[in-house]
Amino acid sequence: MTQLAAQTALVTGANRGRGRDVNQLLARGATKVYAGARNPETIDINDPRVVPLQLDVTDPDSVARAAEVAGDVSVVVNNAGISLAARVLDDDTAKLRRELEVNLFGPLAVTSAFPDQLAARSGVVVNVASILAWIALGGSYSVSKAALGSATDSMRLELGPWGVQVVGFYMGYVDTDMASGVEAPKSAPAHVVRQVLDGIQAGALEVTADDMTRAVRDGLAQPVDERYAPFLPEAAEAHDQEHHTTTGEPS
Ligand SMILES: NC(=O)c1ccc[n+]([C@@H]2O[C@H](COP(=O)([O-])OP(=O)(O)OC[C@H]3O[C@@H](n4cnc5c(N)ncnc54)[C@H](OP(=O)(O)O)[C@@H]3O)[C@@H](O)[C@H]2O)c1
Repeated sequence: MTQLAAQTALVTGANRGRGRDVNQLLARGATKVYAGARNPETIDINDPRVVPLQLDVTDPDSVARAAEVAGDVSVVVNNAGISLAARVLDDDTAKLRRELEVNLFGPLAVTSAFPDQLAARSGVVVNVASILAWIALGGSYSVSKAALGSATDSMRLELGPWGVQVVGFYMGYVDTDMASGVEAPKSAPAHVVRQVLDGIQAGALEVTADDMTRAVRDGLAQPVDERYAPFLPEAAEAHDQEHHTTTGEPS
């Protein structure tokens, strides 16, 4: 299925951030969107086609209840995520474990709650990963998103025979609460959502939302030291010094 018209979608983490932009799904013809949120009263989208749904992706009871209510789902967007970005060698693995619960086990639990619906309708699963799945600057967050990327490919192998389109979605910074402390350039949430919906409709299995993500993706075949060199502190320092010498201004 690469048409969104007449589909029923479920978006997790739809109360804020990028997940809140469900209007683009409706504009492309989706007839209903279940807006999943831990606290559904925080869904402030006033459209009869948008149905608030209590859904904590880490709570098996919540997932089971959501699956009962949303039996007509044909498009699952695993958008909910957290970023704690701990060092992977910290003695305390609590943050890594929490990220794996939300960012990996969450999408697995939600998707596996809808296998019959997805198979019967040759549906779509979108897993929102990150550029940091491919370049491990996010520490524990990178681990969780890399694991999600791998799980996405495994899901595709398991659901593909039923015609389900399983899409891995990768991007750099997006202007939401999650990246509020970041000074670097950020994509607008609406732009990112447009990319993935275009990708679904084009039948894509992997969508990259921005040039930086595409560059990192293209570089995956390079030797690992070359891939990481531009991101190391020395590279940033050298860039700053060079810029200072040529312009007289710090960059
Ligand atoms: N922003 C970026 O720069 C960026 C870049 C690459 C990838 N991403 C990914 O994009 C996705 C959306 O992130 P965002 O930027 O929109 O972040 P955000 O503004 O922080 O929103 C995160 C959403 O996830 C929800 N959530 C967290 N834990 C949950 C749980 N256990 N069950 C259900 N929902 C839960 C939050 O709900 P509450 O309000 O209840 O906390 C919120 O709706 C995430 O998977 C993130 O990792 C973001």
